Amino acid sequence: MYVALEGIDGVGKSTQLAHLKAAFPDALFTKEPGATPLGAAIRSLVLGDGDYDKRAELLLFLADRAEHTARCVAPALEAGRHVISDRSLISGIAYADRSLDMETLYALNRFATGGLFPEMVIVLTISASGYEARIRARNEGEDRIESRGTAYMMQTQERLIDACRALHIPCHVIAAEQDEMTIFNAIKELIHD
Ligand code: TYD
Repeated sequence: MYVALEGIDGVGKSTQLAHLKAAFPDALFTKEPGATPLGAAIRSLVLGDGDYDKRAELLLFLADRAEHTARCVAPALEAGRHVISDRSLISGIAYADRSLDMETLYALNRFATGGLFPEMVIVLTISASGYEARIRARNEGEDRIESRGTAYMMQTQERLIDACRALHIPCHVIAAEQDEMTIFNAIKELIHD
């Protein structure tokens, strides 16, 4: 089973992934961007300080996704392993510049992945006030909140769910402000053989 875990910064994906690693020791835990050597180079570009053209940036994320799908996801699935990925094409669509239309984004992602999409997406969601509190607690401070804006990130969160619907990928939305183990048990229930 190929599962993607999605959510904006601060929803606790890393915490949940740590629990999932213990619960599914045979699964491949992977991520976008940056799971392959090419992806690591792309990650340092796209998450660095550079201010790239929106199409150039999108194509870098897509190159990471193509390499990741071909070199990590497909072989693991062929070997009968679960694949649990921290982000996927769903982030690729939700975070893409808003002037890019869904049809183009879908076609490019289909090309990059050869049509190998997650079978299920779990989206952890948070309220605006919860988001601000968590980002502050992580000591990334006002700058980070102001740099993108809480309202913008709330829209990005909605776009994660919208992207799943547009692609007809089953999407499970879990409120991130619940108890850590409650969230973990809910996710664990969803992942089966
Ligand atoms: P992440 O690895 O969660 O970074 P962090 O170390 O900040 O937690 O995510 C990388 C960032 O890249 C995140 O803000 C989402 C964004 N992103 C895109 O813009 N497009 C994409 O295709 C992907 C996969 C991620």
